[in-house]
Amino acid sequence: LRREALEQLGGVADPGQLNELRVQYLGKKGQLTEVLRGMGALSAEERPVIGQIANEVRAAIEAVIAEKQEAFDRAETARRLQAETIDVTLPGKSRGEGTIHPLTKVTQEIEDIFLGMGYRIAEGPEVETDFFNFEALNLPKNHPARDMQDSFYLTEEILLRTHTSPVQIRAMRAANGQTPLKVICPGKVYRRDDDDATHSFMFHQIEGIVVGPNIRMSDLKGTLLQFVQAMYGPQTQIRLRPSFFPFTEPSAEVDVTCAQCGGHGCRMCKHTGWIEILGCGMVHPKVLEYGGYDPKEVTGFAFGMGVERIALLKYGVDDIRHFYNNDLRFLGQFARM
Ligand code: PHE
Repeated sequence: LRREALEQLGGVADPGQLNELRVQYLGKKGQLTEVLRGMGALSAEERPVIGQIANEVRAAIEAVIAEKQEAFDRAETARRLQAETIDVTLPGKSRGEGTIHPLTKVTQEIEDIFLGMGYRIAEGPEVETDFFNFEALNLPKNHPARDMQDSFYLTEEILLRTHTSPVQIRAMRAANGQTPLKVICPGKVYRRDDDDATHSFMFHQIEGIVVGPNIRMSDLKGTLLQFVQAMYGPQTQIRLRPSFFPFTEPSAEVDVTCAQCGGHGCRMCKHTGWIEILGCGMVHPKVLEYGGYDPKEVTGFAFGMGVERIALLKYGVDDIRHFYNNDLRFLGQFARM
């Protein structure tokens, strides 16, 4: 039995065969097991002798099986290592890297400029109450100026904010009468406009407000000049035209020398050399009161600009819709700017 087993084991070529032989000799119904089971029929003298031989045979067979199994395992490991070899010197697959959206980029630039002038950033809700969006900004119900900002109403008292000015009121109230207050408020705003090259039902604004003793219109003008020169270059000039906003008095609209043609005239500025970029003014006394300040003690200025407009002018883009179409050919160009 021993010889036969060892001979057969010597010839096995794969793990499957090895297992078959294991079962054949050592399994529950294996040949060796049979011999051991038959020991009960032997005489008392024969039993230890046969038992010893049987155990030796079993040990021998087990040793050969273990040896073979180990050889097979080693071979298998070697085969897998060979098959799964990775050539680390092959060039990798390159993956396109995303770029920062131009509107995000311009927003961050504007924020940086004002942070550098000591402002802090305040945010407010996009779903706003009629009170903060209009009422506290000196725009009572039925005021005709409400028509300037056609709105999306959710209920009679709640709407999507039409500008970032309500954050002015929230920031003033949060300041609890403390001065100086210097904040900018970036965010999305919504108006019921039909989308075209210069209008979108949703766009981005950045509002700024400063409140303190003796804040004057000249402070506003100097601040805005500093801002546009940081944004569009030191040669940039501004001009203020009288305007009207219910929440500022006096109010002005601000033009800059066209950043695309340097003021010489081009399609972008309709050959005038100037482009309007924001609205501003001295905070209306009533608005200061709504913000918790005493208009006899403090004054303030405020301004509000559309981020899309600032970006259009900076990059010479002619259609606001490019910013929302997510065309990678358009967006990718700003990676290098
Ligand atoms: N809130 C105004 C708008 O959206 C802009 C503005 C802000 C004007 C602050 C003056 C002062 O048109």
